[in-house]
Amino acid sequence: MTAQLVHELELPLLNTTGMERLDAIAAIEAARSQHWLAKSEMGYSVMRLEDVTAILRDRRFHSALSILPQLSGLPESGYAGRRRKSILSMEGDEHTRLRRLVAPAFTPASANRLRPTMRAVVGDLIDRVAPEGQCEFVADICEPYPIPIICELLGAPPEDWKLFSAWATDIFRIFNGNLVEDLPLIERAAAELTDYVSAMIAERRTDPRHDLLSDLIAIEEGGDRLSTEEMAMLAEAVLMAGTDTTRNQLGCCVALFCDHPDQWALLAEQPELAPRAVEESMRFLGAVRATARFASEDIVYRDILFPQGTIVSTALAGANRDPEVWTLPNQFDITTERVTAHMTFGSGIHFCMGAALARAELQEALPLLAQRMPKLAARGSIEWKPATFGIWGPARLPVRFDPS
Ligand code: HEM
Repeated sequence: MTAQLVHELELPLLNTTGMERLDAIAAIEAARSQHWLAKSEMGYSVMRLEDVTAILRDRRFHSALSILPQLSGLPESGYAGRRRKSILSMEGDEHTRLRRLVAPAFTPASANRLRPTMRAVVGDLIDRVAPEGQCEFVADICEPYPIPIICELLGAPPEDWKLFSAWATDIFRIFNGNLVEDLPLIERAAAELTDYVSAMIAERRTDPRHDLLSDLIAIEEGGDRLSTEEMAMLAEAVLMAGTDTTRNQLGCCVALFCDHPDQWALLAEQPELAPRAVEESMRFLGAVRATARFASEDIVYRDILFPQGTIVSTALAGANRDPEVWTLPNQFDITTERVTAHMTFGSGIHFCMGAALARAELQEALPLLAQRMPKLAARGSIEWKPATFGIWGPARLPVRFDPS
């Protein structure tokens, strides 16, 4: 049987850009009930857990991050050619080598090392607003939370968190859809970060400490080592992939608990529910709603031909509520033991390298917040970021709670 060309299929349309959160979920559900594949803004979209996993594990589908500059209309010879590759956009042997070398530095044990810092950072942020009995949760807690932890992870002094925060903001402009204009700022931030991290690496080569850079320097496998350039790239990847994600995920979790006050009270009483609360919140309302791949060659999947270059978005949010997999997918319940893992950390070779760290950050923050912010409720309506396929969460989340 010959495969049918994807462009010739009659498919449901899925365009969630600018939609409110519930509308976006409803749009995915409507498309998924008609077909396993939908036509979307950039190409196609898969929405069931089975297909999302299959596409993310298929090594012929490559990360669309590597073609972002082209999609933004930048010439190959310019930014795309100059900029070093990130682990997020590498493929094949190059990616396998790096992941293998780096894996020992990203274990749950190394994440656990940072738990006291996480508790101290979140505790301090709560102290500032607790007597008021109200705050704007995104600006007061989510925004400042992850950067000091990434600084501690890398081994940078805590007073430098503002530098890291500014670099992260500028490097994130990559996703603003205005690459041509933002390019000088992005390049300057990346160069400053590289200089800073390279100086730290030079120090640690003679004076190792208990931090990620010292761990990366010490790693050697079969005579293979990471270069300074690779370590600087990893520091940038960690800053990029590990700050806005965690912030938005914390915002998503707390917004959800505003709708479920009984479960917030339960978490305060039983902090041991934190791991389940984190997994269930990430399934129900994940901050990364989709990630995109492109066909690096002509690919036949489920008897459909995806010609080289076709973009396929994998709707992690759709997979997380796939009725064929989850019992009561639209019910949020932190006491349920779910057997399937959610998809908000992705799957396949690019599966989130910081998953253990992110889990620890959320597991430390949520029960402490639940205990120190009892009777939490949203003040007015929550303002959400537009439901594009990037990192997503509340833009503003004014809350009130019993002061302490
Ligand atoms: C709740 C917070 C987080 C979420 C939801 C999240 C989600 C994801 C997802 C979906 C991917 C795969 C992207 C793709 O396949 O295209 C990914 C990759 C990655 N994440 Fe996370 N992430 C989080 C936190 C972190 C943290 C804290 C770090 C840093 C320590 C981190 C570092 C990375 C890196 C380096 C990659 C690229 C891995 C590779 O390409 O091999 N992430 N993350």
